[in-house]
Amino acid sequence: MLEVIGSALWFILPAYAANATPVLAGGGRPLDRGRKLSDGEPIFGSGKTVRGLLAGIVTGSAVAIVQGILTNSCRWPLVGLLLALGALVGDLIGSFIKRRLHIPRGRPAPLLDQLDFLLVALLFASPLAVPSWQEIATLLIITPLIHLGTNAGAYALGLKKHPW
Ligand code: CTP
Ligand code: MG
Repeated sequence: MLEVIGSALWFILPAYAANATPVLAGGGRPLDRGRKLSDGEPIFGSGKTVRGLLAGIVTGSAVAIVQGILTNSCRWPLVGLLLALGALVGDLIGSFIKRRLHIPRGRPAPLLDQLDFLLVALLFASPLAVPSWQEIATLLIITPLIHLGTNAGAYALGLKKHPW
């Protein structure tokens, strides 16, 4: 049981890193430059920035490179890059969906906020690596909990405007 949790966390670490970094390093020019669609809502909203995206890619890849060195795997950094890219794209897709549902930037969308990045990260990495179903089930359960916990922590530290 603990082994499955450990290997699942090890697998998803680049995605977690990519998803968490923008909270610290994001800001500046929004990816959509404030453009709105015909529904009157922004494409992604001002919470999705160029700097956040780049910082997420850099941190996610750096984590994966360290993991590759630790496990002597030259293939892992590529898997990690896909996980990081997938996490960031998934986060963007989540915001895109929220805006289409007229949910303002920063307002919660339960499950979507916690799982968008995970599902797309797994999808992006799937041509090269697929975790066991036990690991995937573990990630589906613990990711929302970790996401809520770390966001509440970031809110308490004043790093985030909302605790979700
Ligand atoms: N962030 C960023 N660039 C990204 C993703 C996130 O700069 N590509 C930063 C923003 O400062 C954002 C914070 O990280 O406010 C937290 O991200 P998230 O919770 O995903 O964004 P929200 O502001 O809640 O916006 P949304 O409603 O679109 O989820
Ligand atoms: Mg949010």
